Amino acid sequence: MSPSTAFAAGFAIGTLAMLAVFAFVFRRSFSRPLSAISQVAEQLARGEHGARVRLPPATRFGRLGTTLNLLAERFQHDISELRRLEQIRKEFVANVSHELRTPLATIKAFAETLHSGAVEDTENRMEFIQEIEKNADRMTRLVDDLLTISALESGKLPPAFEPVDLMRVAREVVVGLMPLAQKKMIVLRLEPFDIPQVRADKGQLKQVLTNLLDNAVKYTAEKGTVRLTASAQNGRVTVKVEDTGCGIPGQELPRIFERFYRVDKARSREMGGTGLGLSIVKHILELHGGSVGVESAVGRGSTFRFTLPSAS
Ligand SMILES: Nc1ncnc2c1ncn2[C@@H]1O[C@H](COP(=O)(O)OP(=O)(O)OP(=O)(O)O)[C@@H](O)[C@H]1O
Ligand SMILES: [Mg+2]
Repeated sequence: MSPSTAFAAGFAIGTLAMLAVFAFVFRRSFSRPLSAISQVAEQLARGEHGARVRLPPATRFGRLGTTLNLLAERFQHDISELRRLEQIRKEFVANVSHELRTPLATIKAFAETLHSGAVEDTENRMEFIQEIEKNADRMTRLVDDLLTISALESGKLPPAFEPVDLMRVAREVVVGLMPLAQKKMIVLRLEPFDIPQVRADKGQLKQVLTNLLDNAVKYTAEKGTVRLTASAQNGRVTVKVEDTGCGIPGQELPRIFERFYRVDKARSREMGGTGLGLSIVKHILELHGGSVGVESAVGRGSTFRFTLPSAS
């Protein structure tokens, strides 16, 4: 072999070896990670939201993989949030329909009874008519509450803040509930308190107090006691509504502020309740920068406490 041929052969072998090394490096650091990433991207596009890139994060493609994983993570979160909202919406529609159906069916039944002869029944017809009225009232209340909730949620009912004398509003509410309390021989007491004015929407504050006191009277047996007190500390006012009523089991406590949630469905419905009162209370207080909580012992009574910022 001439030196020139040997040189050419050596050169060719050297080139081939270099190419082989180059191909090896290329595959390892470009081809493989890229195809791993594009595979995951395809999986994600197919709807396999759990697919993730697994590459050492410090490399160049590793960073791309991490970014893709982050995007997938966010996307997955958004999707499950959308699903959750859709589920809540569906349940809400089902609840509303169900709540409207019962009084509607009752009204129809009584109207039919009257229609098919009971109009002549002078002894009982008044009772039938009263039932129709009662159920129509119930539907009106339900629709009113729903409209309130929807207005509060959509921001169409922003609180008209002003300094409010809580004692005065509480007195009005207590006077309004007196007849109901007296009927059950419940002592409804408004303890005198000396607090600064609160920053609130008067009408909405009245609704909060009405709902809480109405519950307290409703869910307290005859000869019980309902007390309202308030105190101030660190620029906030705390209002306490205490009753000696039936109480609420511990495992139900976290749910009573949910829309339509009632501990004893039959009993609450009998009293005209739809389970919207407390969710309205919570909503209003949140719009006021306040909060609400409850402590309760079955058979002993419940204490609802809410806070509001004071006006000054
Ligand atoms: N003071 C209380 N004592 C015992 N249980 C209560 C009391 N307040 C509320 N609850 C329970 O919490 C549930 C939800 O209360 P909420 O005020 O939202 O609904 P409601 O009173 O049943 O109906 P609505 O207020 O819409 O007329 C009630 O059904 C009741 O089971
Ligand atoms: Mg209520």
